[in-house]
Amino acid sequence: MKYNEITKENINEMVISFYAKILKNRDNPVSKVFVSRLGEDLNSPIWKKHTDLLTEFWSMIASKDSSYVGNPMMAHFNMGLTSEMFPMWIEMFYKTIDSFYIEPVGDIFKQRANNIAQNFKRNLGLV
Ligand code: HEM
Repeated sequence: MKYNEITKENINEMVISFYAKILKNRDNPVSKVFVSRLGEDLNSPIWKKHTDLLTEFWSMIASKDSSYVGNPMMAHFNMGLTSEMFPMWIEMFYKTIDSFYIEPVGDIFKQRANNIAQNFKRNLGLV
């Protein structure tokens, strides 16, 4: 059953499910970047730190209580990102959101993800 409201708990489930989807398809270039930076075990401490951080990040976007402090753009420099990775990331993210939230509840996440992806690409000189 899909959620009809955003809570911090379902954001955490959504985030974990998103990265599980990414790690499932190892041939995908997006997956390769994540595996090279964080490893392939979603249950490892390094991945738990990442999923907790991203739960705070998306909670901030959804105006839920959040402790996110960070610089998302900076984190993506020198990671070997290419322009083809962005539509792949977006596709997997949108699919995750659509499987978690009833329309239009998850739209805020999709809109912000798309805007941020465009900013990242521009700042990385990929457009
Ligand atoms: C194009 C594909 C992308 C790849 C391969 C990618 C990969 C990564 C990786 C590997 C990290 C962890 C960095 C580390 O701790 O070493 C990271 C951090 C992060 N990513 Fe991405 N990312 C992508 C796109 C995006 C997009 C579109 C967003 C936002 C909508 C996003 C949001 C974040 C945030 C918030 C962090 C944490 C930054 C911090 O340290 O505060 N990423 N990303």
